Amino acid sequence: MNSTQIISISSLTKRYTLGASEIWALKGVDLSVRKGEFLSLVGSSGSGKSTLLNLIGGLDTPTSGLIETPTGKIGTMSPRELARYRAHFVGMIFQSFNLVPHRTAQANVELALYFTDAHPGDRAKLASDMLTHLGLKDRLHHRPADLSGGEQQRVAIARALVKNPEVLLADEPTGNLDRDNSLAICELLADWNRQGGTVIMVTHNLDLARQYSHRVLRMDYGVIVNETEGGLP
Ligand SMILES: Nc1ncnc2c1ncn2[C@@H]1O[C@H](COP(=O)(O)OP(=O)(O)OP(=O)(O)O)[C@@H](O)[C@H]1O
Ligand SMILES: [Mg+2]
Repeated sequence: MNSTQIISISSLTKRYTLGASEIWALKGVDLSVRKGEFLSLVGSSGSGKSTLLNLIGGLDTPTSGLIETPTGKIGTMSPRELARYRAHFVGMIFQSFNLVPHRTAQANVELALYFTDAHPGDRAKLASDMLTHLGLKDRLHHRPADLSGGEQQRVAIARALVKNPEVLLADEPTGNLDRDNSLAICELLADWNRQGGTVIMVTHNLDLARQYSHRVLRMDYGVIVNETEGGLP
């Protein structure tokens, strides 16, 4: 790892076994992510995009290979180190938002802080400040079912960013949204990126990938097959 890198991935593989069958979802991925980069991952369904993102997010463990970060190596971290990594280093958002249904927007965002060093007395304000920053000042006490899709995704972004992570991982964050909401979500990610945050976004929308990224990587059958420059300078 050099000082401009934030993630360095080498020879990463992931095998799933289902009964008697084996699936190699990742067959040897090498990737270096620069600090402050906005990276998009595209590729056909089943090519391994979510698997790669989940491994970087520490939600799953590699079959072989390494993911190196400034806070440790995924593949060799202890469970305790991995929990810390997930609480501090990465924030994740998903196509299906994954909010806790019976909690308000405010409570959903506060939940993310329970596993961090944030002082309990500061959690409520940190959460409402972040939601306000994302345009949800008047929605703090709404439950997910009472919010639009675009608003739910903004709550999910608030939940990911309130921890002040180094890297934001977004798995098809606009997959359930119309064009206007998709652009609005990408603008929020871009804003955070301009302030220095590193973003890795999986998307099926090549136009969005090109418009918002520094680099667009294409995956096929568990490997990165191609890399093109995005529209960001
Ligand atoms: N938990 C699992 N158990 C078994 N196989 C899995 C599991 N998760 C993923 N796979 C398989 O691994 C391969 C890669 O899946 P992955 O979800 O990473 O694809 P993807 O590129 O994200 O696809 P999509 O664009 O449809 O979301 C697929 O063949 C999938 O069926
Ligand atoms: Mg996927």
